[in-house]
This record gives sequence, structure tokens and C-alpha cells, in this order.
Amino acid sequence: MRQSSLVVVANRLPIDDSMAPDGACEWRRSPGGLVSALHPLLRHTPATWVGWAGGTGPAPALPDVDGVRMHTVALSADDLRDHYEGFANATLWPLYHDSVEQPEYHRRWWEAYQRVNQRFAEATADVAEPGAVVWVQDYHLQLVPGLLRQLRPDLRIGFFLHVPFPPPELFMQLPRRAELLRGMLGADLVGFQRSQAAHNFAQLVAKVLDVPATDRRIAVDDRVVRIGAFPVSIDTVEMAALATRPDVADRAARLRHDLGSPEQVILSVDRMDYTKGIEQRLKAYSELIADGHVKVRDTVLVQVAVPSRERVGQYQILRERVEREVGRINGEFGRVGEPAIHYLTQPFDRVELAALYRVADVMAVTPLRDGMNLVAKEYVAARVDDTGALLLSEFAGAAAELPQAYLVNPHDLEGLKQGLLAALRAGPDDLGARMRAMRAHLHRHDIRAWARSYLSALDDSGSLLTRLSAAG
Ligand code: ADP
Ligand code: F6P
Repeated sequence: MRQSSLVVVANRLPIDDSMAPDGACEWRRSPGGLVSALHPLLRHTPATWVGWAGGTGPAPALPDVDGVRMHTVALSADDLRDHYEGFANATLWPLYHDSVEQPEYHRRWWEAYQRVNQRFAEATADVAEPGAVVWVQDYHLQLVPGLLRQLRPDLRIGFFLHVPFPPPELFMQLPRRAELLRGMLGADLVGFQRSQAAHNFAQLVAKVLDVPATDRRIAVDDRVVRIGAFPVSIDTVEMAALATRPDVADRAARLRHDLGSPEQVILSVDRMDYTKGIEQRLKAYSELIADGHVKVRDTVLVQVAVPSRERVGQYQILRERVEREVGRINGEFGRVGEPAIHYLTQPFDRVELAALYRVADVMAVTPLRDGMNLVAKEYVAARVDDTGALLLSEFAGAAAELPQAYLVNPHDLEGLKQGLLAALRAGPDDLGARMRAMRAHLHRHDIRAWARSYLSALDDSGSLLTRLSAAG
């Protein structure tokens, strides 16, 4: 077995199998924030990525992706149902997102979560060089740091949570709360998006495990576990370069023409997820049309909602509700050839996404709760001429970094409508000042700055960082 000095462990690999029209298996980049953040970072680094390739059955052998070794972990049909769709996405996901949908608790799901975490830990132990740095990602794998430390005490282990970490009042519901906290404490460094999440974690460790904890350090057994906030970001240089390419400019002009050359385009790009606030946004937009504040001929909404976790009941119900509402709004307010909402569920490549960001006069990112939201950052990075308005939920992690956005509370329908109108009606000077400030922030806090701050905290020798910057 070939071994690496840097191992990233994430539920998903950066590529995913999908069915081509002729039924053949086709590999494409997985949508979602985790891959968007880590993929550009690791490119050309001699690292191994341990993860699941989508689907069930034996793990396929995959070629390297941009110089990064792919090490697949297989999930059976039962694992998929009980670990990925069950404990990860119907217990932890809703619980960690303010319980905007009711979390479900089933003992069988917990058993699957333990089993799959054990499998990931064993696979990682096989591919990590002696003394390697291992970086475990996200809520699917919270037990891996602890399990891996038992198997390989020589490793330097980091854990990063991409989603929010809830306050004690919510987390205390979880039947296996102590085991999950202990699993995370197997890491040398536990990173969160926001300092509030690190605070929640420290409080819970003190309360549930009776271990003294501050928001920065926890002494457990004979080790110190450090905790902290490391807000994740994007490859701003890559997005800006993409957005200024002539073919992207042409594509953007074509898109605007195909949309009926409206005066203003509002864009939303989400995974189809109940945390993203899609229904609330549609309601606000349709009320603005009904009130006469927005005219369909002048303003269109493009809603991209790529299907996600499609076998989970709550996601199926959401999709039905969103599609019913889009149909209602288009039926009521659209005309032949002039829909009020252009609704798209396809995955897009980066070029098409950049063209969409260029077309959008207002980008509406209004999740009910979101760990970070990289779409908001991608939009800002793409607006190289400092035009455009970002309408952003206060409940997205990105709001703490982008206070110049039009900030809204998506639960407050009137506030949402006012925010959208303010963004639509803002003048170029105001927009320019806001966008410049946001772009300057992202320029300093891009994905490399994120990796630098996390990895230098994890690996104080600095050797890992040297290798990453040599590769990147
Ligand atoms: P989440 O991690 O919850 O999906 P983020 O906003 O942080 O949310 O990240 C979503 C990522 O997925 C972004 O990088 C975005 O560009 C990408 N993405 C979203 N929708 C699509 C789509 N239809 N096609 C391709 N990529 C998409
Ligand atoms: O952090 C949010 C997250 O779960 C990421 O792990 C992933 O990038 C994204 O949502 C997509 O989710 P899934 O892997 O379930 O398709």
C-alpha cells in the first residue's frame, strides 16, 4: 500500500459517479462546499484523499485527480441508508442546523455510523506514512479522530467541521452525545467555522464529559486538544480569472439575452436543501410581484437548485414543495416566453457558474442556517468590476466576514422583501463601495489563507505548509 505524509479524510471524494445518457458511468466533480474548498488547495500536492465515491458496492479503483491519490471507501446499501442518509443527514444535519427540520434518532443508524467511521479510520491508518498529518473533515466522520488515534498514535490529527456546531440546548438532545464529543477530542486540533461554535463545543465538553475546557484548549488524558475558528474560503484568484475570460463574458451576454434581456437578474444557487431558505425566498419574490414592486418583464429570478440527498424523505418533500411553488408563481405571474422564475436543477461546470455570477445583478443567498456558504463568496470573487449586490442571510457563516452585504433575517418575510428591494434599487456608488470592501476581504482571506492558518496551527513544524505552497 502506497503511503502519504498528508491524508485528507472526507465522506466524499472530489469526484462522484453519475450516469451518462448512454447508461455508462461518468466521473464528475462533486457539488458542495467541502470539495469546492479542498480540491483547489490540494491540486498537485502529493497527498491521499480517503473518501466515498458515491454509489454502493465494492470500492472502485480511481486514478489520481490532479496529482492527488484517491483512496476509496466502500459503502453498502445498508451503510448508505443508515450512515449517510440516516445518522449523518437525518440526525446530525438537521440538529446542527437549528433543528429547522426535526432530527430523527434511531439506534440502527448509530450502529452504522460507528461501523462506517471505523472503516474510514482503518483505511486512513493504512495509507498514512509514519508521523503523517491527517485532516479529517465534517460531521459524517466525527468518531474518526478518536478511532484513528487508537490505531495510529504516531499521527498528527486535525478535524474540521464545515457545518455549524449547535448550542448545548440542541446538542444535548443527541442520545450518543458523549461518544461524539470524545471522538472529536481524538484530534490535536478541532476547527470550526465560527468562534461561537468553538465556544459551544467547549461548553459541551465541560458539561457532558466533565473535562475543564476553554474556547481555545482542552486538556484530555495526557494531551492538549486545541480548538478554534478557521472560516473556510474559496480560490478567489481562480474565480476572478474565470469570470474575466472572454468566453465567460460571451456566455454571460448570451444568458442575459436568453433570459429576455431583463433590466435586472436575481440569482440563487443552492443545493436543494431545507437549510437554504428557498421557500421563504420564493415567497418574498412572489409577494413583491403581487404587490407591484417588481415587474416580471423587468426583473427575473434564476433559481438553481441542484438535487441533493434525494432518498431522504425531508429532501423529497422539499423538492415537491419548491417545484409546486415555482409552478404556481410562473402560472400566476409569468407570460408565454416570460416566466417569472427560471428554475434549473442541473449541475453546472465552473465556467457556467462563473457566467451566471456575471449575469446576476443581485445574488440572493438567504439560508436559514449555513456553516459558511461558499456561493456567496464565489459571487463576490466573480464581480471583478465591483458591480452587483449580495443579499445575504445573517444566519450564514459568511455574514460575519461580509457585513457590507445586504444582510437579512430570512425568517422575517417583510425584512426579506425590503432587503431584496434595497438590493435591486441601490445605486452604483453604494454597490461599488460595498463590493470593493468585500472583495478586498476575500482577497486576504482566500482558501490558501484558510489552509495556512489551520495547518500551521496543526503542524507547528511548518513542513506541511512548505510542501503545500510549493505545489500550489
Ligand atoms: P453546501 O456545502 O451546503 O453545498 P456551499 O454554498 O458552501 O453549500 O457550497 C456549494 C458549492 O457547490 C459551491 O462551490 C457551488 O459553486 C457548488 N454548486 C452549487 N450548485 C451547483 C451546481 N448546480 N452545479 C455545480 N456546482 C454547484
Ligand atoms: O458541509 C456541507 C456538506 O455536507 C459537505 O460535506 C458537502 O460538500 C455538501 O454538504 C454536499 O453534501 P453531500 O456530500 O451530502 O452531497
